[in-house]
Amino acid sequence: MTRKVRIATVSTGVAVLVVVAVSFSQEVAPPPRRVEDPQEKAARIELEKQTHRPGPVPDRVILTWKGDPATTQAVTWRTDPTVTEAAAEIALSEGGPRFTQGGKVRRVPAQTQLLKTAINEAHYHSVNFDGLKPKTKYVYRVGGGKSWSEWFQFETASDRPEPFGFIYFGDAQNDIKAHWSRVARGAFSDMPKARFIVHAGDLVDSGPNDAQWGEWHTAAGWINGMVPSVPTPGNHEYSPKLTAHWRAQFTLPENGPPGLEETCYYLDFQGVRIISLNSNERTADQVGWLDRVLANNPSRWTVITFHHPIYSPAKGRDNKALREAWRPVFDRAPKGVDLVLQGHDHTYGRSGLMRDDNTLSGGQVFGEWGTVYAVSVSGPKLYGLGDQPWMARRGEGVQLYQLIRVAGDRLTYEARTATGDQFDAFELRKRPDGGNEIVETKTPDLTETPGESNGRDYWNAAGAVLILALVGLGVGWALRAR
Ligand SMILES: [Fe+2]
Repeated sequence: MTRKVRIATVSTGVAVLVVVAVSFSQEVAPPPRRVEDPQEKAARIELEKQTHRPGPVPDRVILTWKGDPATTQAVTWRTDPTVTEAAAEIALSEGGPRFTQGGKVRRVPAQTQLLKTAINEAHYHSVNFDGLKPKTKYVYRVGGGKSWSEWFQFETASDRPEPFGFIYFGDAQNDIKAHWSRVARGAFSDMPKARFIVHAGDLVDSGPNDAQWGEWHTAAGWINGMVPSVPTPGNHEYSPKLTAHWRAQFTLPENGPPGLEETCYYLDFQGVRIISLNSNERTADQVGWLDRVLANNPSRWTVITFHHPIYSPAKGRDNKALREAWRPVFDRAPKGVDLVLQGHDHTYGRSGLMRDDNTLSGGQVFGEWGTVYAVSVSGPKLYGLGDQPWMARRGEGVQLYQLIRVAGDRLTYEARTATGDQFDAFELRKRPDGGNEIVETKTPDLTETPGESNGRDYWNAAGAVLILALVGLGVGWALRAR
């Protein structure tokens, strides 16, 4: 073999190697979105106008809290702008329909605001029922005039710690009607007595897009009228400001720092303090407020939700500034922070007990205080997973929902796939000193990456063998050429 041929062969080998290496280091990107032609776009918008047109009958009925879940309940709904005198009615629940008789129903006039979107104009109405009895079932309906919703039923929280469960979703965001519906409904069928639903941001892909909100409300449908939502905003609810949909359709606490009302807030539910932080803006301004909310915390358990992860499971992502701003606040909380629920990364990653950027191990677990960080995804947009040492459990290529139960000194956490199969499970056991021990209750299998990733692992291995072979050949030829 001549020197020229050898050089050409080695160069080709190196080129192939570079191409192979680059291609295997790429994330599996979603297929590029097809650009619509003007006619297609006009037809789509017309269809969206028809599909998501408000009418005189209430729709998008959703329960949230503005005040104490033991004595208040907020409800928000939508109608067309002809409905100007909206109201909600409430009564103590009974086994039959007679609660409607004998003056048992209380009517509360609604606050109404107009929301103009690219495809419609609507009135959003809200009522905050107050003066309710703790741990009591109520019926309510919303409307006015001749158009009323059905009577929905809910139960107020107990005013003391009592066992309950709630649902946590990561980003729904894309193809919500098509692909998020079964996840939302699957979670509800697995925990029909869930007392609330945490949404960790990016509920939709485009905050001002009313058709996407229409899909979001349709996917969970009447579930939202009976199980309150606890939403925190994601970056997709910002463009660049918080979408006007947010405050129009969610009636949330205004106990956060000024200017961050209904995005940064807290509430207490039966022995658990739930805190929503806004990871999209003014993150430093929330530090002092959070210190105070964690210091004056009457609840035994503390769960915090926000969108951008403190520790990122997705390949190539890291929110260092956010971690440096907020993680020390969690660590110095007098009662600790038990669980942090996040989204944004379109993968699954869940830590063990962490403190000072380290996972507690050995004897530390029985003496130190640590926080468990979880990132999950409920919608169909799925990214590649990074390989991070903090992950006790990780996953990609699956849509998930989480069922969390709190009872006395135990918090149990379970992640399930859209098929309802258990994907992750652990238990926190609160020690008398307030710290937690963690018990993994699903057999850990750190190599398991279900769905598409199995195929990708195979190709990654094949690629590695090919690269090694090419390197070997190249080195051999080069040595012989000397
Ligand atoms: Fe996001």
